[in-house]
Amino acid sequence: MLCCNAFEDTPHFCLNRVVMTTNPFPPLFENRAKYTGKILTGPYSPSLKKKLFASISHFAALEKARTPIIPYIAAWLPDGGHIWYEYAGARLQELLGFHTTEVASALRDNILTRCLYRIQRNPPAIDKIVRDKAQIERLREAIRRMAERGGGVDAVYKFDVNGSPLWLKDLARIEIHGRDRIVLSYGTMIDVTKEMQLEETLVEVKGELEFHKENLESLVEERTRELKKSQLDVLARLTQAAAFRDGDTGAHLKRLSLYCTVLGPSCGLSRNANDVLFHAVPMHDVGKLGIADSILQKQGPLSTDEFEIIKTHCQLGSDLLSEGKSNLLQVAQAIALTHHERWDGSGYPQGLVSRQIPLASRITSVCDVFDALTSERPYKKAWHFEDAVDEIRRLREKHFDPTVVDAFVKNIPRIKKVYLETPQG
Ligand SMILES: [Fe+2]
Ligand SMILES: [Fe+2]
Repeated sequence: MLCCNAFEDTPHFCLNRVVMTTNPFPPLFENRAKYTGKILTGPYSPSLKKKLFASISHFAALEKARTPIIPYIAAWLPDGGHIWYEYAGARLQELLGFHTTEVASALRDNILTRCLYRIQRNPPAIDKIVRDKAQIERLREAIRRMAERGGGVDAVYKFDVNGSPLWLKDLARIEIHGRDRIVLSYGTMIDVTKEMQLEETLVEVKGELEFHKENLESLVEERTRELKKSQLDVLARLTQAAAFRDGDTGAHLKRLSLYCTVLGPSCGLSRNANDVLFHAVPMHDVGKLGIADSILQKQGPLSTDEFEIIKTHCQLGSDLLSEGKSNLLQVAQAIALTHHERWDGSGYPQGLVSRQIPLASRITSVCDVFDALTSERPYKKAWHFEDAVDEIRRLREKHFDPTVVDAFVKNIPRIKKVYLETPQG
């Protein structure tokens, strides 16, 4: 009995001045629902009433087929105000636990969330726009206007039904009847509670996994930092121990690192590679730990045999740093082994020539010799800065890679700054 009581009581129903002489509602319609809308009995055009009536009949028939689809027809005025329902399927009333007249307020008052899924084509993705109850309250009019402009609604709503969640997917087509100043929404809802609960569980699990992943990542980062720091501490102590035995100082190692990192970018090193060079260079003489004090600290000239023993510090250092997994240790090992090689092949221990010598070692050897020349030792005075620069220039293409010497010359102001600002000692 979709037709209202007033209609049943009024056999000659007046549809906006069109006198109906017969009951326009088919038996199916009359027996399925109680009409509680406003349009069929209100001052609206016959064409609107006729169309709406046909749609209600169609929806009532659809419902009779017991499909999972829950049809409804909502209506509102284009200038705002509450929505009312011209037709609401019995299943919707069952799910919400309200009668037709209360469906609009039940839907409005018990809604918790509104989700809108938007498909992005490029790159393919689905955007999920979630509005909570407070946002929906605030945006109600805007959402309605958007539906009117878009000609439809495609959203999922979450309701609270006596403390239990109910999710309904809503697909509706909007019709604006300008002459009657009515907007109609012909919609179908479908109960998607199970699917959405599954999605919520998946989101929770995903969130939990993300949380653990972030925690794990920061833990790994922290441990890596700690490990790197303790590794560098150990290497620095080892390096200093070797340097002190040879009469080198911490200041020499510091200047050497700084000189090398001035030249690095001019020789084509990336920022990261330059950083590795900075930490690797001080280990160049670590192999001197394996040379006897009687030779290392001998006052006066070394015999040929003694010099041969000194030369072994390259291989000893390389052995000491071998099998290092980190890039830092691998570079340090290469420098320890080859920092006494010369561009013209006259160096040791392998007599490598030009680019057979790793770039890090070609940079190290220029800076190591320059700092040795400009440093005072028990057996020699420090050279003047300019004299030492001339010596580096003189050894271009002999001991040193010409491009590294060119980089050195190009950076003389910065080299001088390190020379002046890093104390001797
Ligand atoms: Fe050395
Ligand atoms: Fe050195």
